[in-house]
Amino acid sequence: MKTNGNTIFITGGASGIGRALAEALHQAGNTVIIASRRKALLEAVVQANPGMVSLVLDVSTADGIQSAAKEAITRFPDINVVINNAGIMQIDDAAAVLDDAQMLDILSTNLLGPMRLTSAFVEHLKTKKDAVIMYVTSVLGFVPLAPAAVYSATKAAMHSFAMSQRFMLRNSGVRVLEIAPPWVQTDLLNSNEEPRAMPLKPFIEETMAVLATDADEILVERANVLRSRPGPGEMAFVTEFNRAFLSGVSSTANPTDVRA
Ligand SMILES: NC(=O)c1ccc[n+]([C@@H]2O[C@H](COP(=O)([O-])OP(=O)(O)OC[C@H]3O[C@@H](n4cnc5c(N)ncnc54)[C@H](OP(=O)(O)O)[C@@H]3O)[C@@H](O)[C@H]2O)c1
Repeated sequence: MKTNGNTIFITGGASGIGRALAEALHQAGNTVIIASRRKALLEAVVQANPGMVSLVLDVSTADGIQSAAKEAITRFPDINVVINNAGIMQIDDAAAVLDDAQMLDILSTNLLGPMRLTSAFVEHLKTKKDAVIMYVTSVLGFVPLAPAAVYSATKAAMHSFAMSQRFMLRNSGVRVLEIAPPWVQTDLLNSNEEPRAMPLKPFIEETMAVLATDADEILVERANVLRSRPGPGEMAFVTEFNRAFLSGVSSTANPTDVRA
């Protein structure tokens, strides 16, 4: 994608990957609007990055998204990039009774949130040049981490939704990109000091380099092992399958070719 001159709305932009990405994009010459729940944290990040702006948003509620998106489009009509980065990760036990409140929290934040937010922005984005919708998913969407089964399922669902949306928007000016990070040192699961996780700085540097290419999937080298498990040709298959379905002919893509 074009990595400068955009007006970018990014959720979860006051900490971790979202903050580091927001700052890298700010430094690269974009207008960046960060949005999440903690007002004081948002204000601190804006103060540290003159020119950045913030908006309070809770992505887990439909009403919160509707009003924040309306406000964002009114105040910043040049928004042409929306990055769905906000997310939560909690440990669960898929072999036992799941905590319903926890499950709803993860699903509404990680899955319904990005779908609703994108939906609130998509008609606006269709009127913009170089428009991009981006999802921060996870390699755990390709290879689930069993003790975080609900989290992993939301990321797999986001990946699926992104492919459908990329296909449906193929003739519009809106591109759909997905960043699928490996384990990165952030507050998520208290991983800031975790030696097995990738340090944030090189993760963002590598991510920015891939973002500047034409790739739809933004993967750092470390993410490739898990990403390649379901088959790197998956999107071509999905495109062929959907083209064939819409034109009423049998798909030449054989579903049995797709490794589960
Ligand atoms: N770190 C990793 O290893 C890793 C790997 C793969 C994917 N990811 C994904 O990367 C994204 C960012 O995570 P991170 O690692 O940077 O963790 P993080 O520092 O905890 O960031 C998560 C951000 O999401 C925001 N958020 C959470 N719930 C929200 C809500 N209901 N409404 C609005 N904002 C909300 C938080 O801000 P507030 O609390 O202020 O709202 C926070 O800024 C997530 O989608 C995560 O799943 C992370």
